[in-house]
Amino acid sequence: MNTPWEAIDARHVRWNHQTYLYFAGCDYLRMSYHALTEPHKPLDQGASPFLSVGASRSTTGEQSIYLELEQSLSDYTLSEAARLTGAGYLASLSLADHLREKASAIFLDQYAHPALQDTARLAQCPIHVYEHRSPTSALELLSRTEGSSNVFLLSDGVFGLDGSIMPVERFHQLLPPEITFLIDDAHGFGCHGPSGRGVSALCPPHQRQILTTASLSKALGCHGGVILGDEKILDSVSRQGHIWRSHTPLPPSIAYSAWRNLLWLKDHPDHLASLEKRTASFNAIWTASQQSFLEFPIVALSTPSQKALEEVKQYLTEAGIYPPHIHYPHGAPHGLFRFSWSTAHTLEDVDLLANTLSDLVSNGLADHFKLSCDPVS
Ligand SMILES: Cc1ncc(COP(=O)(O)O)c(C=O)c1O
Repeated sequence: MNTPWEAIDARHVRWNHQTYLYFAGCDYLRMSYHALTEPHKPLDQGASPFLSVGASRSTTGEQSIYLELEQSLSDYTLSEAARLTGAGYLASLSLADHLREKASAIFLDQYAHPALQDTARLAQCPIHVYEHRSPTSALELLSRTEGSSNVFLLSDGVFGLDGSIMPVERFHQLLPPEITFLIDDAHGFGCHGPSGRGVSALCPPHQRQILTTASLSKALGCHGGVILGDEKILDSVSRQGHIWRSHTPLPPSIAYSAWRNLLWLKDHPDHLASLEKRTASFNAIWTASQQSFLEFPIVALSTPSQKALEEVKQYLTEAGIYPPHIHYPHGAPHGLFRFSWSTAHTLEDVDLLANTLSDLVSNGLADHFKLSCDPVS
C-alpha cells in the first residue's frame, strides 16, 4: 500500500511533506470536488439528514433518492432500467444469480477486471477465456462450443490499467446476435462514447441484449455502483438476487450527490469535451515521441527492474509529480506507474506529464505498458 496523501486542491496533493501534481485515481471529471460544493441533503427538504439506511433496500432500506437516481441513470444512458448497488464491484456480482440461472457458457476477456472474473465463477458454468479485446478469438472459441444460445460475453468497457477500450462494435458485428454482452463500464461510463453514455452506447441499440455495470466513484466522483439494462432482468435481480437483496446500499447523501452530479453533467456537455481536449494535448506530445495514441485519459509505465523503479520515482518527484505506483492483477512484475488526467488539470499540467513520461521512456528507464501488444483483431 502507498503512504497516504492529503488533497490540497483538485490538482495537487501533499505527500511525504511535499506538494505534488496528482495524476492518479479515476475521478476523471473531478466530480468528487464538485459534490463537496453542494449541500448533501435528502430530496425532502424537511427531513433530517442521516448517514446510512442501515438495511438492504429489499428489507427496510428503501429511499426515494435511490429511485430518483436510478431513473436519472437510465434516462442518461438510454437504458430501460437501472439498479443501484453499494459498490461498483457489487454491480456485476449482483448479476451472478441471473447468469447462474440462464448462462450455458461464459466468454471472458483474459484481462477482465476481478469483479467480472468473480461474477463468472459464481455463475457456475463453463468459462472460456478469449484473447484480450479480440472478437476473432472469442469467435474461434465459440466455434468449439455447443451453440451460442444463452452465451454471455463478459468484458470491461475501458480496461482501467492501460485505458484500452473494448472494440464493442467489432464484437457486435462478428458475434451472433443472441449472445448477451455484460460490459463492466466502470471507467467508460460518463467519460466515453456518445455524450459520455459509455462503451455500451457504441453498440447499435436494440440489436442485442446488453447489460452494463458501472461505478459511481469514477465519472460521478461519488460511491456505489449501478446495473443498467433490461427491466425484466433487473426486476428479477432485485426480487431474487442474493447479492442485491442482501447488502446495504450506498448512503442516501452519496446517492443525492451522485444525482446532483449527473444532472450537472447532463447540463454541461462541454465538461466532457474539456477532458477530451486534455487527452488530445497529451497525445500531441506522446504520439510524436512514442508513436502510440491514447484513446482514454490513462497511461501506464512499467519498469525493467527494481532499480529503474526507484529512479522513475525520483525522476517524477523531482518533476513535481506524485509517483502513482500500483500493484494490480495483470500488471507488470515490478508493478506499474498508472497516470490519469482530469478536467481539473490545466493543459500545461498535462503537457508536463506527457513530456516527463516521454523522457522516461526515451531514456530507457520505463516502458509504455499495454495489456497486450497487438490487441485488436
Ligand atoms: C473495471 C472495474 N470494475 C469494477 C470496479 C469496482 O468499482 P468500485 O470501486 O466502485 O467498487 C472497478 C474499480 O476500480 C473497475 O475498475
